[in-house]
Amino acid sequence: MVITIPATSANLGPGFDTMGLSINLRNEVEIVPSPYREIIIDGEGAEILRRAKRNYFVDIFEQTYRELTGKEPKFKIRFFNRIPISRGLGSSSSAIVGALTGAYEMAGVPIRKEKLISLALKYEPHPDNITPATVGGFCVAKVKRERVYFLKKFIPPLLKAVIVIPNRPISTSKSRGALKREYPLKDVVTNISSTAMITAAFFSERFEMLKYVVEDKVHQEERMKAVPDLFKVREIALNNGALMATLSGSGSSYFCLAYRDDAYQIRDALATEFRDFMVRVYHFDNYGVKVYR
Ligand code: HSE
Repeated sequence: MVITIPATSANLGPGFDTMGLSINLRNEVEIVPSPYREIIIDGEGAEILRRAKRNYFVDIFEQTYRELTGKEPKFKIRFFNRIPISRGLGSSSSAIVGALTGAYEMAGVPIRKEKLISLALKYEPHPDNITPATVGGFCVAKVKRERVYFLKKFIPPLLKAVIVIPNRPISTSKSRGALKREYPLKDVVTNISSTAMITAAFFSERFEMLKYVVEDKVHQEERMKAVPDLFKVREIALNNGALMATLSGSGSSYFCLAYRDDAYQIRDALATEFRDFMVRVYHFDNYGVKVYR
């Protein structure tokens, strides 16, 4: 069995812990029954992942398989990772969603994607990456009594993602801890109105509206100070025609949304200025996790 899981970009600026979208940059995991346990890791971050004491994917996969079957898991698992780690592109969500999907498939227990998202919440307590990683597209999501409610919209192919990947990470847990606990009412209103407008723009496909309404007072400015070049990344992207340019999740990557015809100009302008950063154009993904048997 092969599972592929997409990268995701969460928050989209003001929609902190609430919205995200799926990018067609996929990690691939092959799982095969085997007389002995074997783990092979290739691709992005392979060195770091091979040295780590624990493998997040393998832990969740084996624990879930045990719970579902009562049997000891014996599999050969081969990873080919493409999603950079600790860069705000959903690499941990891809591990959670991939591991749960793999365990249910291997145990022969059917599970609906809606249920899988709520299970994934146990490992990542905000739904903005796990939801698009599971179902693809643009997603808004809300957690209520440990259940995730979400709505998804297909992203049309006329849109592309331009992603800037800096050469250093920002830790999600540390940067969450550093955020303010209280915000002035006017900042709260800025984020609520901006998040509502982004949702309406995606669902009604009025993407040009995004140029005027994306504003965040909750987390981005504080987090971007860890990689100050990101302020210039945002300015260059917007000056070259991006519809929006926001920190991807908790960073350090930057997510820019653009019409297909503008995407390569934005990429070239950013790549010329930031030679140490990776700048790539990606398609969006509208399907989420996929299983091939
Ligand atoms: N909403 C999360 C955060 C995204 O900003 O901390 C990272 O998964």
